[in-house]
Order: sequence, then C-alpha cells, then structure tokens
Amino acid sequence: MDTKQEIELQKEYIEKIKKINLDNQKYAIFTMGCQLNENDSEKICGMLEEMGYTLTENFKEANLVIFNTCCVRENAEDKLFGKLGELKKIKEENGTIIAIGGCMMQEKHITEKIKESYPFVDLLFGTHTLHKLPQDLYLVINRKQKEEDIINIEGKIYEGLPIKRTSNLQASVTIMNGCNNFCSYCIVPYVRGRERSRQPKEIIKEVQELAKAGYKEITLLGQNVNSYLRVEKEKKIPFEEYQGINSFATLLKAINEIEGIERIRFISPHPKDFTDDVIEAITKCDKVCKLVHLPLQAGSTKVLKDMNRKYTKEQYLELVEKMRKNIPNLTLSTDIIVGFPGETEEDFEDTLDVVQKVGYEQVYMFIYSRRIGTPGDKMQNQIPEEIKHTRFDRLKEIVESKIAENNEKYIGTTQKILVEGKSKNNENTLTGRTDSNKVVIFEGENDLIGKMLNIKIVEEHMWYLKGEVVK
Ligand code: SAH
Ligand code: SF4
Ligand code: F3S
Repeated sequence: MDTKQEIELQKEYIEKIKKINLDNQKYAIFTMGCQLNENDSEKICGMLEEMGYTLTENFKEANLVIFNTCCVRENAEDKLFGKLGELKKIKEENGTIIAIGGCMMQEKHITEKIKESYPFVDLLFGTHTLHKLPQDLYLVINRKQKEEDIINIEGKIYEGLPIKRTSNLQASVTIMNGCNNFCSYCIVPYVRGRERSRQPKEIIKEVQELAKAGYKEITLLGQNVNSYLRVEKEKKIPFEEYQGINSFATLLKAINEIEGIERIRFISPHPKDFTDDVIEAITKCDKVCKLVHLPLQAGSTKVLKDMNRKYTKEQYLELVEKMRKNIPNLTLSTDIIVGFPGETEEDFEDTLDVVQKVGYEQVYMFIYSRRIGTPGDKMQNQIPEEIKHTRFDRLKEIVESKIAENNEKYIGTTQKILVEGKSKNNENTLTGRTDSNKVVIFEGENDLIGKMLNIKIVEEHMWYLKGEVVK
C-alpha cells in the first residue's frame, strides 16, 4: 500500500468508529514536548473529531484519554507515569480508554515498563504509526483487546490527515520529519527516524488554504529546517520542484508571496546549515520575522565537538556577525545545555561568554539529561548533578540580566504586533507579539484581534512589555 492508500484506509476506519460513537463521546489529550508534537496532536484531534469525539479538559469525563509523549529529557517520563497513576482509578470507575503515542513510545524500555507497571493502558502507538490511530482505536473499541502498534523504520510522509488547529490566527506547518544529525546528547534521531522533507507543492497548498481560512502567522517546523530538501538532493530521492522551490531559502521566498499571510516564523534551523541563500531570503522576505532561533547548545569548541554539532565557538560567533551585518533588526534566541559530559569550568565559561557577546532575546536553558541509546549516555565523564545545577543557576542569572538589559531597548520604540486575543490575566487588555516574539500587553477593543497594529512600548517587565496603540 502506498501512503495515499493507507490514508484512504484510515478514513474508512474513521467512518466505522463514527457509527459506533453515536452518543456524545469525549476525549482528553495531553501533549508534551516540542511544536512538532503539538502539530501532531492537532492531527490526532482532527482524526478524533471526525470520529465523533468532542474535546474535554477534564480527564474524569473523557471516554478516551490520549497522551502524546516526548522523551528529549527525563522529566517527561516522570510526568507521564504520574498521570498514569492518577488515571488508574478513573479507568476502574469509568472504563476510560487510554492511548499513549509519540516519541517516548519508540523507546523499548519505556513500553516494557508501561506494559509491566501500567497494564491497564489500551493502546501504544509510535511516531511512525500516528496516521493509523483510527484503525488501532477501532480494534481496541471493537475487539476490546489491547493494541501495540510501534515500528522502527526510517519513516514516511503522510499527507491529507484531518487537522484541528488550536488557533485560528497562527498555524504550524511541519515541512520535514526526522533528523540525521545525531547530536550525541539527543534522542530525537532514534525516535523520529531519518530526515525527510515534504513535497514543496503540499506545503504551499497547506499554507494557501490557511491563508484563505484567515490565518495570519505561519510557523514552519522541522528538526533542522534549513536543510529542507537537502537529503533528497544528496541521495537523489526524487522530489517535484514547484514554484521554483528546491531549498529552504526558495521555500521561504515562495511562502512570502502568499497573500493573506502576514508573518512567517521557522523553528529550528541548525547553525551548520545557515547558508548565505537563507540569510538573503530572511533579509529580502518582508513577512519573514527577523527573530532567528539559532541553537548554540554549548559555547566551548571542545564540548561542541563532543556533542557532534559540527561548528566551533568561533564559527558560531562569525555566523552571528554575518547575520547581524545582513539582516536589519535581527534578534536571536537560542537553546543551551549545561553539564554535558566532560564540560569543565572553563568550557562552561565559554558558554557564558557567548551569551554575553550575542545578547539573546530569549534563551531556552536545559540541564543535560542522559538518554539511553545516545553516545552521550556512554561517555565516562558525566558531570555530578550538583555541579550541573549550580551552572544552570549561574547561566540563568546572566541570561535574565541580559534580557532585562535588552528589554529596556524597547521602551519608546514602536513595534508591529499581531494581536492574538485577550490577555490571560486581564479581560480588559489585549495581547500580541512583536516580530521578535516578545509578548506585548495593551488596552484595546476586541475588534483589533487578528490585526497587525503599531504599538508604542511604554513599560518593560521580564517576560512581557506594556504598550499603547499608536493612533
Ligand atoms: N532540532 C532542534 C531541537 C531539538 S530538541 C535543534 O537542533 O535545535 C530541543 C532542545 O532540547 C535542543 O535544542 C537541546 O537544547 C535540548 N536537548 C536535547 N537533548 C537534550 C538532553 N539530552 N538533555 C538536555 N537537553 C536536551
Ligand atoms: Fe537533536 Fe541535534 Fe537533531 Fe536537533 S539537530 S533534533 S538536537 S540530533
Ligand atoms: Fe520531544 Fe519528540 Fe519533540 S522527543 S522534543 S516531542 S521530537
């Protein structure tokens, strides 16, 4: 069966479940991890709603509870097992169907543990079988038997899954799956399979439909977005060039032309693939936000080598310089891991040095977490927890002081904001984001929601800015 036929078959199962689900069946979903997982969850919700399920936030009243898991760091496991513990009693009382999918299910030691310690779970599915949820769920419901549908393959691309998006203004569009980089700390390549890009035409079609439906902001997703179509070109895997798209840069340019879309973001690019054509595309495309997420991971060249990141501290800083020179109003955000095996005090200071030099808009900081099956886990010189934590706190302090310093630069400036909605904590104010992804709160009427507005920044707080509409 090709992927199209597989999807057609799943549609038949959707119809079969719909016939069973005549009374008001409810589902709850719990999503962990990155935006790719969130986008997968939107597809899970899309399938479930076509089967006649409606969403509830309350696990207790759900007929079906689905977990979409992440395994990039250890704390996700604790979270899942905690929730499963809570669900045991609910299941005993209500007969709730429990399904677990996502990255963690691609790890054998985890599925073994679930089967042993949480035998009441009904369905386990992996990252390569997400599209088969209708069929697997049908077997659970109809035959009342447990299902495990996890395969370890390079991975395929499935088009045409139903999707229920969480916002009607901002949408994520996955442009590629998997990862071939094998950074030595990271589990993603083992659980998501090999890097593969979607056909240009499929992406353009999706964005055009989003534009037609009134979406204003698009975030292009992938583990290594700026190597879009690279594997295909290298391995001579056929793809169909469409509107001149044969790389990430040309993709950005084509999406920039789509009427109705006002903002384009992308996450995550890899510094080693930041070619000049991508820099040029960011500069020239007016809709592409000038915030670039440029994952550093570590500042020390030695640690970067051990991490298999394929750039040095100097190359990273040179890249930042080149981007600053070329892209007006560039802002940067990053990911940093502290406490990778063998990281000395000196190595850690290199990380602090890069943070000082670059002045990031936002830094996502992580304590190194050993992942079974990765080269990092086998390294001898693991850093004691205590040192990892003190380094994390030291990094956090510097990052926060730099952010506060950076925030001050906004005061008095006028920023273009996409108005997202009412503020969470105050019904009377609206919220939106700058090009640099800073949250801005301001007073205004509800009819401004969905509009691009000029806002004058009057106050700064650590995690948000306050502004006034420029009349
Ligand atoms: N593909 C993206 C992001 C992958 S996961 C990239 O390369 O940037 C998101 C972030 O989690 C990574 O950037 C990294 O900072 C962090 N991360 C990944 N594995 C980790 C581990 N084992 N311990 C701690 N942080 C990790
Ligand atoms: Fe993990 Fe590295 Fe791939 Fe990112 S690029 S997903 S950090 S292996
Ligand atoms: Fe986690 Fe999988 Fe994303 S491991 S970070 S959900 S790709």
